[in-house]
Order: sequence, then C-alpha cells, then structure tokens
Amino acid sequence: MAGSAEKTTTREAPSGGGAGPADPRAPVTMLFDEAEIARRVGALAPEISRAIADGFTIVALLKGAFVFVADLVRALDGVGRHPRVEFITLSSYGRGRESAGTVRLIGELPDGVAGRAVLLVDDVADTGRSLAFARDLLLGQGAARIWICALVDKPSRREIEIAVDFTGFTVGDRFVVGYGIDYAEQYRHLPYIGALD
Ligand code: IMP
Ligand code: MG
Repeated sequence: MAGSAEKTTTREAPSGGGAGPADPRAPVTMLFDEAEIARRVGALAPEISRAIADGFTIVALLKGAFVFVADLVRALDGVGRHPRVEFITLSSYGRGRESAGTVRLIGELPDGVAGRAVLLVDDVADTGRSLAFARDLLLGQGAARIWICALVDKPSRREIEIAVDFTGFTVGDRFVVGYGIDYAEQYRHLPYIGALD
C-alpha cells in the first residue's frame, strides 16, 4: 500500500438503508482516497487502449462496478476508446461477507458480445468464481476475446484460476468497501475505498 498511512474515518450510513448486518458506525480504514483512485483509473485507460482496439464491449458486473465503470468509460474516451457498455447481475454474495460458493446469472444476458472483444469489469476479484462464471458465460455467447479488469484484486484469496489483465489496486485479505463496493448494501456511496476489518 505504497507506504501511505492508513486513516480510520467514520461515516454515517445512508438513512433508510434498512436493518442490515452492517453496523453503520463501524469504522472504515482509508486505503485509497479519491485522488489516488482518479490517478489509477486515468492510468488504466491507456493500458487498456494499448491492448484492445476500439469497437469492444464492456460488460460490467452490477452492482459493485457501477461507479468504477462510470469513471473508466470517461477515461477511455480521453484515449480514443468508445466501448459499448453492458451490465449483468450475478448472485453469489448474500448479505454477509463470505461467498455463497455458487454463482448464477440474474436477469438478462448482455447484448453486443457475439463476435466482439469484451472487457469484463468487476469491483473485486476475490475467489475468482464470479469472474470465471462471467467469462464462461460470455464465451458461450460467442465473445471473440475476453479481457478482465478488476478495480480491486485480492490474489491471496483466489480459489479458481482467472487471469486478471488490468488491476486497479491489489490488496491482501481485506474486506473493502466504497466507490461502489458494498457490505450488505451499505457504503457504496463512499468516494474512497476503505477496509472494513
Ligand atoms: P468472487 O466470486 O469470490 O471472486 O467474489 C467476487 C464478488 O464478491 C465481487 O463481485 C464482490 O461483489 C464480492 N466481494 C468480494 N470481496 C469483497 C470485498 O472485500 N468487499 C465487498 N465485496 C466483495
Ligand atoms: Mg460484485
């Protein structure tokens, strides 16, 4: 974590968020602040544009990747890439911190995949089950080639082998929240990425 001192901060959870197991007063340890995230997303765009020609499709996993992909597509515009953007929803985590172990698609398959290069985007690569499932789903839909981009990679947690081609930040075995990433539907609104442990 590049020597940056961790800072613990407390934010109120949004009102009306329901009575989930996340304690809204639980302290969040700052890992990557807004400026650091902006720099990293700004650096990812040219990395991606060097690897993938224009005309590809981003398939982002809801809900966790929604903030990241919103910033990423605007950074990609700056380097002359204008991908189509699709979203899919997978189930695996319930309201807790541990994966349910099985992954399935909820709702529609994405359009714009057959015969095209696809950049699969998720918030966190943890055991690898979700990304492996999504990759196989997209291959089954006839994607010409798939690259994987994870905002946060936790390689020490991997149970299924997947190649993450583009990584925002690498962390150890931490439970991260913020910048779209939730714990029990809380914390997605935080402009920074922190750890809840
Ligand atoms: P995997 O299938 O075990 O790799 O888990 C990936 C999914 O679990 C991600 O899309 C996240 O939604 C969720 N997840 C894994 N680790 C974390 C975390 O540290 N914070 C919040 N969600 C996580
Ligand atoms: Mg997710």
